[in-house]
Amino acid sequence: MWWNYLSSYIMHSPIIQRIRRALRNRRFSFLLSMLMAFQVSFTLASSSSTIHKDELSKGSSLSVDNPGDILRSPNGVFCAGFHSVGNNAYAFAVWFNNQLCLKDCIVWMANRDEPVNGKQSKLILDKYGNLFLTDAGYRVIWSVEVALNLSAPSVQLQLLDSGNLILYHTGTSHGNTVALWQSFDYPTDTLLPEQKFTRYTTLVSSRARGNVSSSYYKLYFDNDNVLRLLYDGPDISSVYWPHPYNLPWDSGRNTYNDSRVALLNYVGMFESSDFWNFNSSDYGVNIWRRLTMDTDGNLRLYSLLRNREWAVSWQAITTPCDVHGICGPNAVCQYDTSLGRSCICLPGYERKNPSDWSEGCKPLFNSFCNLADANVSDFLHVPHRDFFGYDEDYHKNVTLDQCKRYCLDRCSCKGFQFRFKTRECYLKALILNGRFSLESLENMYLRLPKDMLSSYQTQQSPSSLNCSYNPQDIQLHRAYLRSHKNKLLVKILKIVAGVIAGLEALGVLLVWLYITTKSRRKDEATSGVYQLAAIGFRRFSYSELKKATRNFSQEIGRGAAGTVYKAILPSGQVAAVKQLNEASLQGEDEFLAEVSMIGKLNHMNLIEMLGYCAEGKHWLLVYEYMTHGSLADNLSKRAFNWNKMFDIAIGAARGLTYLHEECLEWVLHCDVKPQNILLDSNYQPKVSDFGLSKLLNRRDDKKHLGFSKIRGTRGYMAPEWVYNLEITAKVDVYSYGMVVLQMVTGRNPGVGVPDVDSGGQTENRSLASWIRGEMNGDVPTATWIEEVVDHTIEGELDIKKVEVLVAVGLQCIADDKDERPTMRQVVEMLEHYGNDEHNQA
Ligand SMILES: *[C@@H]1O[C@H](CO)[C@@H](O)[C@H](O)[C@H]1NC(C)=O
Ligand SMILES: *[C@@H]1O[C@H](CO)[C@@H](O)[C@H](O)[C@H]1NC(C)=O
Ligand SMILES: *[C@@H]1O[C@H](CO)[C@@H](O)[C@H](O)[C@H]1NC(C)=O
Repeated sequence: MWWNYLSSYIMHSPIIQRIRRALRNRRFSFLLSMLMAFQVSFTLASSSSTIHKDELSKGSSLSVDNPGDILRSPNGVFCAGFHSVGNNAYAFAVWFNNQLCLKDCIVWMANRDEPVNGKQSKLILDKYGNLFLTDAGYRVIWSVEVALNLSAPSVQLQLLDSGNLILYHTGTSHGNTVALWQSFDYPTDTLLPEQKFTRYTTLVSSRARGNVSSSYYKLYFDNDNVLRLLYDGPDISSVYWPHPYNLPWDSGRNTYNDSRVALLNYVGMFESSDFWNFNSSDYGVNIWRRLTMDTDGNLRLYSLLRNREWAVSWQAITTPCDVHGICGPNAVCQYDTSLGRSCICLPGYERKNPSDWSEGCKPLFNSFCNLADANVSDFLHVPHRDFFGYDEDYHKNVTLDQCKRYCLDRCSCKGFQFRFKTRECYLKALILNGRFSLESLENMYLRLPKDMLSSYQTQQSPSSLNCSYNPQDIQLHRAYLRSHKNKLLVKILKIVAGVIAGLEALGVLLVWLYITTKSRRKDEATSGVYQLAAIGFRRFSYSELKKATRNFSQEIGRGAAGTVYKAILPSGQVAAVKQLNEASLQGEDEFLAEVSMIGKLNHMNLIEMLGYCAEGKHWLLVYEYMTHGSLADNLSKRAFNWNKMFDIAIGAARGLTYLHEECLEWVLHCDVKPQNILLDSNYQPKVSDFGLSKLLNRRDDKKHLGFSKIRGTRGYMAPEWVYNLEITAKVDVYSYGMVVLQMVTGRNPGVGVPDVDSGGQTENRSLASWIRGEMNGDVPTATWIEEVVDHTIEGELDIKKVEVLVAVGLQCIADDKDERPTMRQVVEMLEHYGNDEHNQA
C-alpha cells in the first residue's frame, strides 16, 4: 500500500501545508480533499457493504450469519467478530484488520478448542450484562457471567485501540468506566503491545498452521518467578527454555522478584520481572507487533510490515531442535539450514503415527523385561546425539563396560549415555528429546536385541527415508530478508515522496492521476501472478517444443539419456529441453508417473522441471535453464575461487541429501558427475538428471531398486556396480566424493594422475591413491595441500577448507560402502566447518 504512504506523506509535507495556507485556492483545496478522501476510502473499506459497529450494548448480539456484525476499534486496526477457523467452523475472535494484515491475523479467541457452526451462532450480550457465545442457536459454548441487576447502568462490549475487547459499565457512582471483563486477561497464543503477562496468564501454542486448537507448547511464569517455555504433552512435560542445563542465574534470570509480570511496549521493548529483557530488532514506534507462542514451540516477536506480512523481529530459540517434544520418544531431531527441521527414528524403532511426529517411534522388538536372558541384548553406538532427561540411574567414574553391565542388569534400561571424558554413565528409562548435535559430548549406546543389532550395524534405518520435511520451519530466514527489503523500500519511498512533495500543484495532480490508475490496475496484476503460479508444471505439445527450440537447433548438452537443447518457451522463459533417447523408453503411463514424481521434487539445489512432452515416440523433459552451464565446463574454465568451490560442494551435497532422504520416494541419482551439477546465475549449484536412471529403466529387475545394468560414468562409479553388489544411496556418495576430489585437484578421476615408476614407465595412478600418497608420512598439511590443489584456481588458498574437502572426499570414496558417510553427514561436516569459520569471523 505504498500509495497510501506516498499520499499521506504528501498531505503532511510542510510545503503542501504552506501552499494550502498561502493560496487558499478553492480549486486546489478541492483537489487536496479529493486526494484525502481517496486515501481514507482506500484505507478503510474495500467492502463498503459491510456495516461495522463500534460497540455492542445490552440486549443485542452479533451473528455469524451476518458478515457485517463486526466490532471495530476506533483506530480501525482491530476487528472482533466471528472468524472462520476451518470448514464451517468459527471462533469468536479479535484480529488485525485484513486491510493491514494478510494472514495469521487472529490475536485472541474465545473458543479456540470448540469452534461454532457457520449458521445461527451468536454472541449475545443479555440484559443482565452477561456475555454468551451460542453454537447453532442453542448450546452455550463460552460465557462471561457478570449478573448485574436490571437497574444496572449501561453495559457495553467494546474493542479498544489496543486490541483489548472489554465488557464495561459506565455511570455507577462517578460516571467512571469499570471493566467487568477484558480479553487481555485471557490471552490465547498471542500477546499484544501493552498487554500485561502475569502469574495468572499463559500463552498456549496452536496445533498447527490452519488448526487453532490448543497444543502443547506454553509460555508461563514458573514457581521460581522465572518466565519459561514448557512442552506439556499428553504423556510427558519438560521445560526447554531457558536451557534446562543452566541455572536461572546463568541464563540471566532473577528468581527473587515475585511480582511476576512482563510487558511488551509500543516501541518493541519487552521487560519481565525476572530480568529477561529484549528489544525488537526494529525497535521504534509506529510498528504493530505481536509476541506469539508458535506451533513449532518457538516464541517469536513479529512486526507487521507495510506489505501486510509479518516479519520475525526476535525469537527465543535459535537452534530449532532445542525445543522439546518435537519428535516424540525414540527419535532424533535434526536441523539443516536449507532443509529445515526433521525427525528420524532411532535404529530398531519405527514411526508410530505417520501423521504426527510427536508420538515418536515404537520399538520393533519386545520389551527387555520379557526376555529370559539379558545377554540376548547388546548395544549400538550412536554418536553425536543428545537426549535430555529421563535418566533412571547415574554412575560416576565407571568404565564403558561397567556402564553396559549396569544397563543390562535393569530390564527397563533402554540404553545409556556415556561421557568418556568424565566417565559418567546415565541409564535411560525413556529415550526422549533426542537431537543431533556435533558438539555433543554424549555418546548414546542404544540397547537392541542381538539378532537385530547385526543388521543395524551395517545398514541405515529405513525410516530415515520417510518424508518428514516441514516447510513452515524454514521460513524464518526469508522473513528477515523481507523486512530488510521493506525498510529499504520505505526509505526510497520517503525520498521519492520528498522530491514529489517539493513540486508544485501540477506535480500533485500528476501523482494523484497516477495513483488512481495504478490502484485500478493492481488487482488485475495480482490475479495474473496467481494464475501463473498455479499452472507451474505442465505438459507441452511436441510442436510447441519444436518451435521453442527452433527445430532443435541449439544443442547445449549431450548425455547417455539424451540430448539437451536451449529453448524459449511461449511464456518467454528460457529453458533447457532434453530429448530422451527413444530406445530406452517404456510405456506412457509409467513415464507420466515418473515424470510427475520428478516434477514434485523441489529443492533449491535440484534443477526444477517445468514440464514434459510425451507424444508418440517423442519424449521430452523441460527444465529451467542454467546460465553458467555445468560444473564440468566451469572446472575447465577455472571460473571460480575457493570460497565458491566450497559453497558448490555444500550445495550439491544438500541437493543429494534431499533426494536420498526427504522425498516421498527414495531417489538415487546414480550418475553424479560434474556434467550433472549445473550452476545458476549466482553460481548456486543445482543437481540435474536425477530420477532419470529410474525413468529409463523401469522394466528392469526391480529387486535392486530397479537397477540391474551397470550405470554411471567411468571414474565416478562405485565398486558396487562392478562387483554386482547391492545398490544403495552410497553409490551417489562415492560419485560425489570423486567430484569433490576433482574440484580440489582439477584432475579427472576417469583419467587419473601420471606416475613415473622406477623403470621410467609412465602409468596412470588413481586420483585417490595419488592424494593418499602425497598425504603419507609426516608431511605438514600445508605442504601436501600445495602438492595436490589445482593452482589455476583464483583467490587465496584456504588451507582449512581444502583440508576439509579432501577429508570428506576421501571418506566418501571408501571401498566399503558402510565406511562412507551419508549425504546428510557430508552436509553436516561441511556446514560444521562453514559455521566455525563464521563464528570466528
Ligand atoms: C485440530 O486438532 C485437534 C487436536 O488434534 C483435532 O481434534 C481437530 O479436529 C483439529 N481441527 C481441525 C480443523 O483440523
Ligand atoms: C532497549 O533499548 C533501550 C533504548 O535504546 C535501552 O535503554 C535498553 O537498554 C535496551 N534493552 C535491551 C535489553 O537491549
Ligand atoms: C576413578 O576410579 C579409579 C579406579 O577405579 C580410581 O583410581 C580413581 O581414583 C577414581 N577417580 C575418582 C575421581 O574418583
